[in-house]
Amino acid sequence: MREAEAENIFEPNAFVLGTVTDQNTPSSRTVLLKGVDEHGFHFFTNFGSRKGAAISGNPAVSAVFGWYPMYRQVLIEGVARPVPGQDADDYFHSRPHESQVAAWSSHQSQPIESRDALDSQFHAALAKFNTNEVPRPDYWGGYRIVPTRIEFWKGRSNRMHDRIAFTRSLSHQGEADNWRIERLQP
Ligand SMILES: Cc1cc2nc3c(=O)[nH]c(=O)nc-3n(C[C@H](O)[C@H](O)[C@H](O)COP(=O)(O)O)c2cc1C
Repeated sequence: MREAEAENIFEPNAFVLGTVTDQNTPSSRTVLLKGVDEHGFHFFTNFGSRKGAAISGNPAVSAVFGWYPMYRQVLIEGVARPVPGQDADDYFHSRPHESQVAAWSSHQSQPIESRDALDSQFHAALAKFNTNEVPRPDYWGGYRIVPTRIEFWKGRSNRMHDRIAFTRSLSHQGEADNWRIERLQP
């Protein structure tokens, strides 16, 4: 990530989040990495969104960081767990006022009849919160991806790419084994 920042990769913290519902329907979308700690990789979203619904039925997720100008990718697999409410509050309140209001004005992933209707929802919420502190909606928060597999891929022009995979198992209680490290054929 530091190298991607140094290379001025656009949105180096953007990754493609893959989910699969309990009915085995896969889907993907881009989100932003907003933190990393010893537990995992954090992103924030609306729990009522399509991804939130998938995760609540099946926490298995994947993440792809595609740093194509560097000819690199990092691939993560794991389970998504909600971050503590205090962490979500801290991040929510670090966001610009309009972004906080937008969280109140969008039922993410639900249909709406027009752009005008969406704008009116936003203006109504702006008027309601005015300059007051905006509370975090209870349907908005963060997940951390607790990884069970991380693969670092570094391309070479002769196609004999480097692939280093870290894998471990997680118990239902969240106890993790040591990482197993393997080089994979390209
Ligand atoms: C660069 C980029 C960053 C994004 N970051 C986020 C994010 O951090 N959280 C989020 O909920 N949506 C983010 N989005 C929007 C999502 O890709 C997606 O449209 C939205 O979350 C609804 O997805 P869903 O219907 O699959 O739940 C981002 C989109 C792009 C292109």
